[in-house]
Amino acid sequence: MKPGKLTLTHFADLKSRGEKIVMVTAYDAPGARFAEQAGIDALLVGDTAGMVVLGHDGTVPVTMEEMLFLTRAVSGAVERPLVVGDMPFGSYHVSDEDAVRNAIRFVKEAAADVVKLEGAGRSLSRVSAIVSAGIGVMGHVGLTPQSETILGGFKTQGRTAAKAQQLLADALALEAAGCFAIVLEAVPVPVAARITESLTVPTIGIGAGAECDGQVLVYHDLLGLTEGRAPRFVKRYANLADEIHCALELRRGGSHRRVSRAGAHLRDVRGRARAVLSPPRRAASGRRLARRRSQPPRTRRRSRAPTSTRARCAHR
Ligand code: KIV
Repeated sequence: MKPGKLTLTHFADLKSRGEKIVMVTAYDAPGARFAEQAGIDALLVGDTAGMVVLGHDGTVPVTMEEMLFLTRAVSGAVERPLVVGDMPFGSYHVSDEDAVRNAIRFVKEAAADVVKLEGAGRSLSRVSAIVSAGIGVMGHVGLTPQSETILGGFKTQGRTAAKAQQLLADALALEAAGCFAIVLEAVPVPVAARITESLTVPTIGIGAGAECDGQVLVYHDLLGLTEGRAPRFVKRYANLADEIHCALELRRGGSHRRVSRAGAHLRDVRGRARAVLSPPRRAASGRRLARRRSQPPRTRRRSRAPTSTRARCAHR
């Protein structure tokens, strides 16, 4: 285990102290590093990669090899956050043996700390088998995207009393089978709250309200990297898709104005390089200093110029 790595006991302690767990998805080394630097507790290498990275319509087509490849990139980049490898569709559906074999691949070949799998019912014996093999398992109930067709699409689950009761029973059964935490996806807020208070292990919500013990968000959603409408519950903390559009438009250049801006930047860089290579003579420094002091402070001058790529785009 890497030094400083968060353990499963840490996640149990967070629940007992009433401290919230923060999890985001990660699919590559830079994203994982950003998340670790921000102090995120757990990184889920989710099979949402099928949608946000590989461009499929759903998560079902994602393969074990693809998940191992992405998980390796994430786990190799971080020390502290718990890395959760998401078992893709088909990797635990056939038998307990198959599930254990594939969970071992996540840990051995991709250095995942634990794995996650969807559903209760048939998945319960898979959870017990994987936990018996010494690998931690995160459960996932509510909207389980690998069963999208059976569930009738990406819809809130547990809306009737009977269905809510079933969700609670499933979560309790997953806890009994050995899950150390359970994701509740697209579950009505009161149902998620009831499940959270009934379990001793933490719940991690996505579209399940603030009562859960933690929250998980898809990296591309929270950063505004996905185009089109995000699910209603998604809180966007940035709009990087806009930034990227603007940056690429700037890069494409072509207009006289854009070229001359790039030229100005180059002249500026060359000017600074010259100043470094041949520093001003001592005798002149007093006069230069006085001239510099008479100018507005650097920060004021800078703040007049647009800082973000988007602002530069809008400024053109
Ligand atoms: O694959 C994934 O990213 C997930 C989260 C949405 C919980 O399962």
